Amino acid sequence: MKYAVLGTGQVGTTIATKLVELGNEVTIGSRSADNEKAVAWAAAAGDLADHGTFSDAAAAGEAVFNCTAGIASLDALRAAGADNLSGKLLIDVANALDFSAGVPPTLAVCNDDSLGEQIQRQFPDARVVKTLNTVNASVMVSPQQVPETTVFLSGDDDAAKAQVRVLLEEFGWSPGSVVDLGGISSARGTEMYLPLWLRMYGALGTATLNIRVVH
Ligand SMILES: NC(=O)c1ccc[n+]([C@@H]2O[C@H](COP(=O)([O-])OP(=O)(O)OC[C@H]3O[C@@H](n4cnc5c(N)ncnc54)[C@H](OP(=O)(O)O)[C@@H]3O)[C@@H](O)[C@H]2O)c1
Repeated sequence: MKYAVLGTGQVGTTIATKLVELGNEVTIGSRSADNEKAVAWAAAAGDLADHGTFSDAAAAGEAVFNCTAGIASLDALRAAGADNLSGKLLIDVANALDFSAGVPPTLAVCNDDSLGEQIQRQFPDARVVKTLNTVNASVMVSPQQVPETTVFLSGDDDAAKAQVRVLLEEFGWSPGSVVDLGGISSARGTEMYLPLWLRMYGALGTATLNIRVVH
């Protein structure tokens, strides 16, 4: 399968590397065609890897990961181009963290809206699924680093969520660890979890952490 990974940070490169390891073709996207991190990642990741602008990547991908800074994700996706996202699975792992007033960050959108919903509204023809935003990059693709824990799905398109479930299992998440929260508005819940995640990170001194939902 061909994936676009929009974002050259820790999350983008980690997910892109995992997708290549799984045998997928990946184009990593950035604001500029010659982004240093994207060039270095593609050179190191082998023949299945390529790089380009957000638009180049989205055009090349059959499915798209949004791994851009949450407060800039709408800009990044606009640069990717609505036509390049239309009809495609768009996996959103971003959090709209606003660091403008320092640390800890605040949420740029919350309570009665979420970034996931903003993306789905802005790109109605994309099949948006929010997931993995509640764990750090290395846990996203190596969940076995912690004892069995929970990952969430939010999205309006059931077929898209089923596709993401399969991919999550390829990443190492067991079927029982995936909780489908419902439509894309349920992304409010996982995005508003970030203040707690950040405090747990501070208290425990490690980002290799997650929660397990029991009932
Ligand atoms: N770090 C984690 O472990 C973790 C865990 C869960 C969720 N997340 C979320 O995943 C996303 C990626 O996180 P990250 O730490 O890998 O990277 P990041 O530093 O949050 O984002 C880097 C990406 O955002 C793009 N970007 C920044 N400002 C932009 C702007 N004004 N317009 C368009 N694009 C812009 C950058 O583009 P260029 O390539 O052009 O520089 C780069 O590709 C974030 O939303 C974060 O909240 C992160």
